[in-house]
Amino acid sequence: MHIVFAASECTPWAKTGGLADVVGALPHALAKLGHKVEVFLPYYRQVAKQVPGAPVVLQSVTIPFEYYNRFVRILDGGKTEGVQYYFIDSPEMFDRESFYATPSGDYADNAERFGLFSRAVIEATKVLGVPDIFHVHDWQAAMISVYLRSTYYFDPVFRKVPTVLSIHNAGYQGWFPPQTMQKLLLPWDMFTLDKLEQFDNVNFLKGGIVYADAITTVSRTYAEEIKTAEFGSGLEDTLQKRSADLTGILNGVDYEEWDPSNDPLIAAHYSPEDLSGKKECRRDLLHAFGFHGVSEDTAVIGIVSRFATQKGFDFIAQVADELVKENVAIVALGTGEAYYEHLLTGLAERYPEKMRVRVAYNNMLAHKIEAGADLFLMPSRYEPCGLNQIYSLKYGTIPVVRATGGLQDTIDEQADGGGNGFKFWGYSAWAMLDAIKRALALFQDKEKWTAMMQRGMVQDFSWDGPAKEYVKVYERAIMNRS
Ligand code: ADP
Ligand code: GLC
Repeated sequence: MHIVFAASECTPWAKTGGLADVVGALPHALAKLGHKVEVFLPYYRQVAKQVPGAPVVLQSVTIPFEYYNRFVRILDGGKTEGVQYYFIDSPEMFDRESFYATPSGDYADNAERFGLFSRAVIEATKVLGVPDIFHVHDWQAAMISVYLRSTYYFDPVFRKVPTVLSIHNAGYQGWFPPQTMQKLLLPWDMFTLDKLEQFDNVNFLKGGIVYADAITTVSRTYAEEIKTAEFGSGLEDTLQKRSADLTGILNGVDYEEWDPSNDPLIAAHYSPEDLSGKKECRRDLLHAFGFHGVSEDTAVIGIVSRFATQKGFDFIAQVADELVKENVAIVALGTGEAYYEHLLTGLAERYPEKMRVRVAYNNMLAHKIEAGADLFLMPSRYEPCGLNQIYSLKYGTIPVVRATGGLQDTIDEQADGGGNGFKFWGYSAWAMLDAIKRALALFQDKEKWTAMMQRGMVQDFSWDGPAKEYVKVYERAIMNRS
């Protein structure tokens, strides 16, 4: 099968969160199954820095807008492990400081930027090879599903080509003013509540949900949650209508990148059979955060996260005064919304002996936290899948999570210290504190703690299984369209 991926992030070039990890890894798992996979990504400034002078495959592709045309180049990003990468080069759109936003807000022309990206992918495949299926990710690529069934409706080469939309986060939808329809040359009759319109705006993700042949999201629980008002962010009705075509497939992990037995970014290697290296990683981590004299029975709690409302940091702020009374050292790495940056750095200033925060995006430090912490905290309000808790399992770092989405599906707490972690159900900081206290109690019982670490470390969350599930979704979509 010939599969084209279109996404706004992909490791190792462009990453703000887990989307990049998925788009970086799933294509390789599909290629391993014998499929031909191509991945399209915008040629952001950050990508250009890493792959300067990427060879030009198509010199000039025309993308029409309301009053003018834009012209993009398609660049060859090379082939790794059987996956071909292409970059969409439009300097006026993508040669910018960030991918989506600056600290003062989203780029005002994001609709044009990702509308252009979506059309450029379609146009490029007409020359480079029309695939059997388009697999598009999140709102930034969702318009491929819309364009193929509107502007490209009469193009015979796409008639039988289905699209699969993966929703990595229903909280980000791509909302734009109504004139966007005209700017992107979309037919006005699609600006209705059963299609692209949402509260008088154009909603890219909604368009994708309406027009994709199949929809997936990144865990079973989240696939159910987004059909409810609490988690659907206004799209619950649209998702309910597509319920028969909506599947939850849990993300996998790229163990070539996230495995303590061969991770080049951590201080020492270790495995379930020989955990001794983890002590060295813990020392190294505490040193990196400037902690001194932390005793062995102090639990190191790690956090690596985008700083966003989704991630539940208010819970930490609410019970911080209680939490710091416990025998803990907290290390947090993250970047994002200024409000949460200040909230967490404020706590670290108040309790310097207990908490340190690094406001940065730093992959090496993320690996060091996975390896060096004893516990990993993810109190998310909602979490479509969540990858860090799954990485934590592999690193013998016990997750403490809120039971939602993929956190619910991957972490299992048993009354007797069985299972692979700790979780809380309520929407409450005190429930979180309780779960942390249960974890801290078990931490003092080294035998049971080690057994829990080892149970998590041997669990297999590789991409092989999920890749096969995606193939089934592709096959069904192709069958339904033929
Ligand atoms: P989300 O996609 O919602 O941000 P995930 O848990 O799925 O959450 O994935 C987050 C990914 O981003 C992980 O690979 C994590 O290590 C990485 N990450 C998040 N914040 C940072 C940061 N500040 N520095 C380095 N890596 C980060
Ligand atoms: C999103 C979600 C996260 C998920 C990731 C990859 O960013 O917030 O839960 O793991 O996408 O699918």
